[in-house]
Amino acid sequence: MKKRKKIIVLFFLLHFVMFSQSKAIVRGREHISIDRNWKFAFGHPSDAKKDFNTGTAYFSYLAKAGFGDGAASANFDDRSWRNLNVPHDWGVEQDFSSKASFSHGFKAIGRNFPNKTIGWYRKKITIPESDLGRRIYIVFDGVFRNSIVWINGHYLGNQDSGYLGFEYDITDYINYGGENSIAVRVDATMEEGWFYEGAGIYRHVWLNKTNNLHVPVNGTFVQTKTKDNATTINASVSVTNEDKMSKSFKILQTVFDASGKKISENTINSCSLKPRETKDFTSDMKVQDAILWSIENPYLYKMVTSIYEEDKLVDNYETTFGIRTIRFDANEGFFLNGKHLKIKGTNNHQDHAGVGAAIPDALQEFRIKTLKSFGSNAYRCSHNPPTPELLDICDRLGMLVIDENRLMGSTQTQLGDVKKLIERDRNHPSIISWSVGNEEWGIENNIVGARIASTMQSYVKSIDSTRYVTAAFSGGIGSDGITTVMDLLGINYIVNKSTDEQHKLFPNQFIWGTEEGSTNATRGEYYRDNKKHIMPAYDKAPSSSFISIEQGWKHYNSRPYLAGMFIWTGFDYRGEPTPFEYPSVGSYFGMVDQCGFYKDTAWYLKAWWQDEPVLHLLPHWNWAGKENQDIEVWAYSNCDEVELFLNKKSLGKKTVEKDGHLGWNVKYNPGTLEAIGYKNGKKNIIDVVKTTGVAASLKLESDKIVLDANKNDVAVIKASTLDKKGLQVPIADDEVTFSITGPAEIIGVGNGNPTSLEPDKFLETITVLNIENLKEKEVESITSLEQTKDNIAIVSWENAFREERDSVFGKKVKAILYRTDFELSSNYKESRITFFYNSLGKQQSIFINGKQIANAIPENKNGDTFVLDKTMLRSGKNTIAILSEPLLKVKPWDVINQNAGSIQILTSAEQYKRKLFNGLAQVIIQTTGEAGEVKLTATSKGLKQAVISIKTIK
Ligand code: GAL
Repeated sequence: MKKRKKIIVLFFLLHFVMFSQSKAIVRGREHISIDRNWKFAFGHPSDAKKDFNTGTAYFSYLAKAGFGDGAASANFDDRSWRNLNVPHDWGVEQDFSSKASFSHGFKAIGRNFPNKTIGWYRKKITIPESDLGRRIYIVFDGVFRNSIVWINGHYLGNQDSGYLGFEYDITDYINYGGENSIAVRVDATMEEGWFYEGAGIYRHVWLNKTNNLHVPVNGTFVQTKTKDNATTINASVSVTNEDKMSKSFKILQTVFDASGKKISENTINSCSLKPRETKDFTSDMKVQDAILWSIENPYLYKMVTSIYEEDKLVDNYETTFGIRTIRFDANEGFFLNGKHLKIKGTNNHQDHAGVGAAIPDALQEFRIKTLKSFGSNAYRCSHNPPTPELLDICDRLGMLVIDENRLMGSTQTQLGDVKKLIERDRNHPSIISWSVGNEEWGIENNIVGARIASTMQSYVKSIDSTRYVTAAFSGGIGSDGITTVMDLLGINYIVNKSTDEQHKLFPNQFIWGTEEGSTNATRGEYYRDNKKHIMPAYDKAPSSSFISIEQGWKHYNSRPYLAGMFIWTGFDYRGEPTPFEYPSVGSYFGMVDQCGFYKDTAWYLKAWWQDEPVLHLLPHWNWAGKENQDIEVWAYSNCDEVELFLNKKSLGKKTVEKDGHLGWNVKYNPGTLEAIGYKNGKKNIIDVVKTTGVAASLKLESDKIVLDANKNDVAVIKASTLDKKGLQVPIADDEVTFSITGPAEIIGVGNGNPTSLEPDKFLETITVLNIENLKEKEVESITSLEQTKDNIAIVSWENAFREERDSVFGKKVKAILYRTDFELSSNYKESRITFFYNSLGKQQSIFINGKQIANAIPENKNGDTFVLDKTMLRSGKNTIAILSEPLLKVKPWDVINQNAGSIQILTSAEQYKRKLFNGLAQVIIQTTGEAGEVKLTATSKGLKQAVISIKTIK
């Protein structure tokens, strides 16, 4: 069966055939992706004209229902806008600027960039006539931020949060059996965080279709209790009746195991709901010997809630859940399924190289796998609700989660947001804790903070009593704020607060480290350079206000009362380039860089966070110019002992301290640095680092070589260079150009360099010239060609449309000639130039620079499109003449079109390219949906090219 939140058209039917005992069937629930084929253009926060004159009409959308004007109106002409698919982050597409925000990685969006801070999205959807009578909802998983949505010119609502999903019931507004137009205005002027947040519809968009009697969105809550080998599944379902008649029905709850086998079933009979009533129905089911969800075996069950009216199956709602127990102990830490588990976590923002906040699902999976690869078992969604697909992936891959609310507060506004978050996410077995806030410096140490935190904590427990409520605290010792009220206290940095002291004062409180680290490292660099903004990758405390990752882990790992810790951060992200400023644009905190390439400290964690043997040497061994100088050589290993050799000469064997690392000062000489790790006196593992020659050829490696053509799947491809002997060159910085053929496209490039100002995306550019300032002149007929020639003086002509287009005008005027001009720049030949014309007449002929492009064409309400032949164009002023038989009002209130349309100048994208940074770059490619073979080629001057083949299959 398909997983939650995927297109499940036909699911209902399939389910019926497989599981239902009933005979009658009506159309049930559909969950349809509408991510593809949106139109996009920038608006403006204060210049109405640049905001398509939206909100300027005498009656606009807040005055009268259905009066969406400008770009919010149903029939707005958006043909010249850019075509794109969502998820989309326009922030990552922009240039960098020193005037832009430190938090948002100096991407040129926000208050100082009014032309790039409002984004408009429009889309047309067809709803069949057969949907009349069903409920239809439009669902947004997340839009950054402050969105307004309209359908067919009707205002649906605002959502200011950039992190919460939202939905609108559009049933009543739909044009059944025809086209419907969705418009979304997104305002990314304000920031919600102090880290990169993206801009736009950066998560999925869906249409949900149901019957009037149905389970509302996020309407189930499956809780489990397991004792010995017996599990009780407590399944609560909310049912709503949006019909105008009362409804009687029964609810069938069926539990399937991961293989699709039915393992339990329960029927709740004789249910009824009055019109527009919603009620919760709850039942208990017993399961013996359930397979428990764990990090190693993230086993998932599925509950299908079926609603029957008589024998008609009217709704089917799937809930994925896991069976597991969690427990915190104030002295012994955390227990999963009764077994002690030290939390080895990382904090992460939603941001990746090349794509920013619009992370495809498959890339989310790549990120979670990367974190798991060094033994991490927990993920803190700092500091906001994540996209739902991330949680699905954590459920599937076995990653514990702290799901975090954005802003602390206890009014209806903030508690409402918390409720939404919990109702959306409460069935994910991966989530072990709800975090109500992070480092609220204004309140965390005072009585207001204590009150708010305590209210939030009890509120959360009233909605979900199965998980622990935490808040991340960074204030000092002796506070009387939130540290006094939380059941599970999150400490941000032990240099800020002594966990031992807190534990003594509050012996019954559970404690974990919600942030530790904040160390700074540039991948592959080993000497600090303040001019070049480089931080060495040895794990050393960056300043007296922080400690190293090793010190942090030793603290948490050596105290049984501490449940574990979350490193700041797993992945680097845009923004917060501490300790530097522009032109550094990305953070230095990550255990892996923005692409997911390991920094050395990830190897430290791999050594101590998982059980496979690890031996990793740092730094690289390309130090020409430093001959005979001391180089600090470190080894990360979980062996008992490690012996180091330079060019076969032993530099001594050292004993590995638990949770520690080894170090040698080695006089540099080119050649081979080799380490041998011993376990129980026996050779266990080796690591070799060799001095390389210069780069000779390129290499491409992909995380996958087969992609699912049905699923917007991505491949994450690593580019590197090899020397003549085939050794990877760790200091290479060649610029590599990428080209692609077959059914996939490049969606972004990166290299993990926090100071790189290279583009993440190479996109076509669009300039739109509105055909404005029309002048007009009466002519005898539509065949009067005289004044359609090029370069006719029109200064003395009247401005167009001064006279009403009524029947009097119609009797007087048989034909009108409109003229205006538009400017093209000198490089116009490099672009595709399209005239999106809107009819000004019942029939019309059009001339560009005197050359006819349309001859007596009839009125077309959808507009006509002309790709202009460039030989008829010139740089500078071009003229346009439209000879037409005027459109006339039939009723006095008819509005006659005065907008002749626009000219779109579309310049195709440059080829994708990126410099390697310390030997590596990343290219992300995404399927376009067809099956076939994709070939990605990397070229660079003087180097042998590399090609990688990837299959896409249906
Ligand atoms: C913490 C904060 C994080 C991040 C980090 C950088 O105080 O919670 O969001 O800013 O500092 O050191």
